[in-house]
Amino acid sequence: MKPEEASRLAPHVDRLFWAMCGLSGAIMLLVGALVLFFTIKYRRGTAAPRGPVPDKLSQEVEIGWTAATAFAFVFLFWFAAVAQTSEFEVPAKAMEIHVVAKQWMWKLEHPDGMREIDALHVPVNVPVRLVMTSQDVIHSFYVPAFRLKRDVLPGRYVEAAFTATKPGTYHLFCAEYCGTDHSRMIGGIVVMTQADYARWSAARPQGDSLADQGRVLFERMGCTGCHGPTAQVHAPDLAGIYGTRQPLEGGGFALADESYLRDSIMLPRKDMVAGYPPIMPSYQGVASEDDIVRLVAYLKTLQPPNDRTPAKP
Ligand code: CUA
Repeated sequence: MKPEEASRLAPHVDRLFWAMCGLSGAIMLLVGALVLFFTIKYRRGTAAPRGPVPDKLSQEVEIGWTAATAFAFVFLFWFAAVAQTSEFEVPAKAMEIHVVAKQWMWKLEHPDGMREIDALHVPVNVPVRLVMTSQDVIHSFYVPAFRLKRDVLPGRYVEAAFTATKPGTYHLFCAEYCGTDHSRMIGGIVVMTQADYARWSAARPQGDSLADQGRVLFERMGCTGCHGPTAQVHAPDLAGIYGTRQPLEGGGFALADESYLRDSIMLPRKDMVAGYPPIMPSYQGVASEDDIVRLVAYLKTLQPPNDRTPAKP
């Protein structure tokens, strides 16, 4: 039985699924019918013509079925691509949830610092953007009712998005075998009406937002020593860096998105910004994935100074 349709993407995926079933079924019937027809027509002892097929006919049939097959595949590609890509256009105002997977639990963090384990509360009809990473091995974030499945990889950020369309509680599974308790790495996505969500969120203990916690870390880890406004060292100014295009040492550009900021902290030699000496130390093993989530959240809030126009992405 197919799971409930509870996201904006779900009906598109289901339509695609049934269209594929229908098309495959029709082709199977056609091939089966032809096999049966020819078996009877050309059975031993019948007077059916057995010479070669006329050239003209064989050519037309060849071109005809090749074209039909090509058309069917192009149509299916277009059909599937439209359904999938619609979900990749995430509105800038989408609610951002950070997901850190580990053996064997899901840690989810709201931008205001609210944390959940194996559960995620979201309001209905609000686009949600997931920025996911793993602390250890490959996991996979799978919510059948949303027709959403994305592998969550260690060492990088993976994005996914959904818009829930129906209040309720939906299963969250890990869909990538990740060790002993893989089958118990499950949880629930609770979709609430906007009013319920506001009430739920107000009733939660209020902590510092991710960005505030990131600012504390930024100072505690000594980042201000080089990246602060009064630093003596020649290090890139981080104010307003998020979303800009950074010129790289050796040519080319990199978009300063979450993945880029993460890599710059963990693997500072990967994409060096042009014109700066390679003096940034790697924070691999020093900063945890949770720390990085906070640092990146903080960096995203830094505004460029007023006297400078921000570089357009
Ligand atoms: Cu995590 Cu399977």
